[in-house]
Amino acid sequence: MNRDRSLPAKAAITAVGSYVPEDILSNQDLAQMVDTNDEWIRSRTGIVERRIARNPEHATGYMAIQAAQSLLQKKNIDPTTIDVVLVATITPDYTVSPTAPYVATEIGAGGALAFDLQAACSGFLYGLSTASAMIASGLHQRVLLIGADKMSSIVDYSDRSTCIIFGDGAAAVLVEPSDNQWGYEGGVFGNNGIGSQLLNVPHGGSRQPFNADSYAAGQHYIQQEGRTVFKYAVNHMASSSLALLDRYNLTADQINYVLPHQANKRIIDATREAIGVEEEKVLTNIAHYGNTTAATIPLLLSDFEQQFSPGDRLILTAFGGGFTWGAAYITWNY
Ligand code: UT7
Repeated sequence: MNRDRSLPAKAAITAVGSYVPEDILSNQDLAQMVDTNDEWIRSRTGIVERRIARNPEHATGYMAIQAAQSLLQKKNIDPTTIDVVLVATITPDYTVSPTAPYVATEIGAGGALAFDLQAACSGFLYGLSTASAMIASGLHQRVLLIGADKMSSIVDYSDRSTCIIFGDGAAAVLVEPSDNQWGYEGGVFGNNGIGSQLLNVPHGGSRQPFNADSYAAGQHYIQQEGRTVFKYAVNHMASSSLALLDRYNLTADQINYVLPHQANKRIIDATREAIGVEEEKVLTNIAHYGNTTAATIPLLLSDFEQQFSPGDRLILTAFGGGFTWGAAYITWNY
């Protein structure tokens, strides 16, 4: 690698891998479980089916390991050369004990700095900024960043307003110093703590510890004020993407692809209209996976990897619990 050592290294995604469970939960299946129907779910969310990890052994850590191993095998990477394993998730295997060390040990990266990052649906984007900064510092050389969530473990399958949206999945990227001029260019991020009241799992944290009453009331399941969250999501995915274009002097037609968090097709469409890019440039797979939280954007990278060419300009944008949001600009490396 030829670069000026006095300058921070530009980080780049150099490999991707993914895993989704085999079991499919279709809209028709959900219509047997709650008062809903395929037409409502398709037209209000764009979701047709989602994957569910039914095997109790297949928690978030398991899915993260599968995604990581698919990446390592694809590029024939020696896991002992990975010096950071970062797992973005809101559904860790255990509330206390991060999932990343388990994943790192299982894939053979026992010497890595391994930790979880919790930024809900923005987790992958926040992880990418963190990984890029770790590379730019020169202190780390190979960061394995995984977005993984077993949303079915915190979804109430008697609540039609949430159970139709979420699915399970995991995807991984390798972040390394770029060996050309392309890579992670930068991001625009924001937050608003009001989100802790509008989208959360109410009990089980230090604020409202778990007890028998909260369990009986279903307070251990994910809850949201959907309509309000929807408006915040459109507003902030659009405004952070526009701020990013402005910062890097980019026009919408210079963008090759937009990879938006996959929460609702109507949120994606409204964001696209605000940014002003053509529909073909906006990548989606929500129809098949639903909202996999931290896994949505890396799953897009994995599904559409073959379509990207070196130098392609990608905008990644997300909004999620917290609230957290942001948009990142990547020039594709390979
Ligand atoms: O990942 C980041 C965080 N999450 C999000 O970004 C999610 C953001 N929110 C959303 O995607 C949407 O708000 C939902 C998909 C959750 C709901 O869609 P909506 O268009 O906002 O529906 P609504 O909550 O305004 O409800 C409209 C109607 C209501 O009936 P009434 O009061 O008008 O008679 C609901 O009871 O639709 C009803 N409804 C349903 N009907 C059939 C709500 N859920 C369902 C359902 N099937 N599954």
